[in-house]
Amino acid sequence: MNFENILIEKSNELATITINRPKKLNALNKNTIEELHNAFEALDNDSSTKVIIITGSGEKAFVAGADISEFAHFSVEEGGRLAKKGQEMLFDFVENLSTPVIAAVNGFALGGGLELAMSCHFRIASDNAKMGLPEVSLGVIPGYGGTQRLPQLVGKGKAMELIMTAGMINADEAKECGLVNHITTPEELLPLAEKLASKIMRNSSVAISAAIKAVNDNFKDGVNGFETEISEFGNCFGTEDFKEGTTAFLDKRKPNFPGA
Ligand code: COA
Repeated sequence: MNFENILIEKSNELATITINRPKKLNALNKNTIEELHNAFEALDNDSSTKVIIITGSGEKAFVAGADISEFAHFSVEEGGRLAKKGQEMLFDFVENLSTPVIAAVNGFALGGGLELAMSCHFRIASDNAKMGLPEVSLGVIPGYGGTQRLPQLVGKGKAMELIMTAGMINADEAKECGLVNHITTPEELLPLAEKLASKIMRNSSVAISAAIKAVNDNFKDGVNGFETEISEFGNCFGTEDFKEGTTAFLDKRKPNFPGA
């Protein structure tokens, strides 16, 4: 895979995607969104990828938002299309990926940057991270799922305040309100993400994919997450991973999951 704005590193079963437009604070332009889609799709289709970490290049930013220069002159129709296409191509796509995705937030995560981090399955941050949805300061609202995912993560009142004030919160505040799970130094951010990834990789990837689906279904209109849980739970009993996991437990050894 050849990309202009992202880097991909694969180390055994772990893939790390780095958004690489540091001079523009990794702002998400159209091309970067397309490249991210293609990279996530390819990695998810490759059964040797068990976890994906996403981060930003440079010391300043995860992603400072959607690229404002690309949409500053858009019409109403173009604005609507931008949000719809972006949501489908990247933000909903990442959230529903069957491979777990960890966001390693290494600086500014603003607007589309925070929306991307929120689409990931969970987030960790460096202690210099700054997060916010500043869109109303530009006369627009979050369009890549921010009005929906922020309340899911931090509660409605806190989300309303963050969106209305267009303010930024630091890593401590983000952890306090549940937006990120762990904080560490910038140097330790990727090692921590890798440590969490290695814990995930010890488990059944098939069961993890089923769990992602069941958890996500809690937040989908007209879908009963409990029903999803029941059917996904049942499906697990037909997998090789289940046979290996239960046999290994009874044999008092560590499982070696085939991932099928
Ligand atoms: N879209 C396009 N370009 C962006 C960008 C964005 N969202 N965020 C930063 N950049 C660009 C700047 O235009 C600048 O480019 P230039 O050097 O060619 O002028 C470069 O990245 C560096 O940004 P700069 O503003 O000089 O850095 P800073 O340290 O002074 O400020 C921020 C950092 C994050 C506070 C500031 O860049 C900012 O407010 N960005 C926009 C955040 C935003 O509103 N995001 C939501 C978009 S919907």
